[in-house]
Amino acid sequence: MNKILHPIAITFYVVILIISLPYILPEKELKVFSDDELREVALERDMASIPSNYEALLKVVDNPENPMSREKIALGKKLFFDTVLSQDKSISCASCHNLEEGGDDDISTAIGYLGQENPFHLNSPTVLNAALAKSQFWNASAKDVEEQAGGPIQAPFEMHMTPKEVEQRLNDSSEYVTKFKTLFSEDKVTFENVRKAIGAYERTLLTRGAYDTFLEGDNDAISQQAKRGMTLFITKGCKGCHTGMSVGGQSIQRFPLRSYIAEYIGLLFSSNIEIKESPFPFENKGGFLGKDDSLKFRVPILRNISKTAPYFHNGSVKELEEAVRIMSKYQIGDEFSPEEIEDMVAFLKTLDGELVEY
Ligand code: HEC
Ligand code: HEC
Repeated sequence: MNKILHPIAITFYVVILIISLPYILPEKELKVFSDDELREVALERDMASIPSNYEALLKVVDNPENPMSREKIALGKKLFFDTVLSQDKSISCASCHNLEEGGDDDISTAIGYLGQENPFHLNSPTVLNAALAKSQFWNASAKDVEEQAGGPIQAPFEMHMTPKEVEQRLNDSSEYVTKFKTLFSEDKVTFENVRKAIGAYERTLLTRGAYDTFLEGDNDAISQQAKRGMTLFITKGCKGCHTGMSVGGQSIQRFPLRSYIAEYIGLLFSSNIEIKESPFPFENKGGFLGKDDSLKFRVPILRNISKTAPYFHNGSVKELEEAVRIMSKYQIGDEFSPEEIEDMVAFLKTLDGELVEY
């Protein structure tokens, strides 16, 4: 048989061709949408603006098991800022979730009762828009903001209280007792109702910015560069995970999704082969490996992302540019060029917003 046409040789040619395809084919150009097309594509894919009035808000976030009312929201707000919920009366929810500064604390790991660091070196996520998420916490262990609120109050390294201590303290305050009585028709303050009131307030912590105005029809609300970034966000697959009105928080996903053999064995043929110990492309402070150590994390909310540095579950990355580069390489397998990173960051900045006064 002709050696050139031998089946083994043909298989060899095909394999070589497949391997070299990405190098032969011209690089895929970024799809260019008109402004209206971009908006249409975004809206079709579940990207949505935050409601700007109370009636519309209720449709989006009200919880049938904890119906919202203006009085309950006001009570929850008071509790959110009240240090009475912590053992030494020095810490409130707002200590770690500063609403003026992106809803988090700007430090890589949270610091709570008696200056203790979070034992898993976990970074405080933002409370802004968290009510829109399908689950709470980096490992998705709480179902909603009502359930979540009980966590930090009891965590020994956060507020270090027991439900009983919370009830005793609040029942000592005639102001709280009166407010709880009228709202929940029970004669005493209960821990469950404390969680509910805080949850009702958190459901109003939604922010609106340029992104929302663009989605609502104003083509000039965001720059051309941000529109290129938004196109990348949709067409390259970021949107697949960072989805919904909150631009994240809807699912748990593996991170890092891709690994690169070269990083695990160092330079091949070099004398100092290094074995990579951490699964992460950044320092593995705290050793937290996601839900059940499966490297699955609740996908973070990207609204207000430019104000919530440092990034990732253990706050190891300071710059948003670097967080985007890591995502492009390890989550979508298409490492962005410096220009693409800048475009993406310009888009992500349009997700910054101001609290809506409902
Ligand atoms: C000592 C700092 C600290 C305090 C105090 C604190 N938190 Fe947090 N908060 C964190 C950290 C750290 C996490 C992430 C923990 C995890 O994922 O296991 C978190 C997570 C959350 C989340 C989940 C957000 C998301 O997207 O998953 C919400 C909501 C929240 N906190 C609200 C509150 C409320 C309400 C209070 C007061 C009752 C409070 N926090 C008190 C540090 C704090
Ligand atoms: C397969 C799902 C998935 C895809 C696709 C994805 N991400 Fe992520 N993203 C995650 C997860 C999970 C985390 C949290 C990882 C951690 O903290 O360890 C994250 C974290 C981030 C963070 C840091 C958030 C914070 O608050 O610390 C940014 C910024 C981000 N992603 C942007 C992007 C961009 C831009 C793209 C597209 C290039 C993208 N992501 C694609 C799942 C994904």
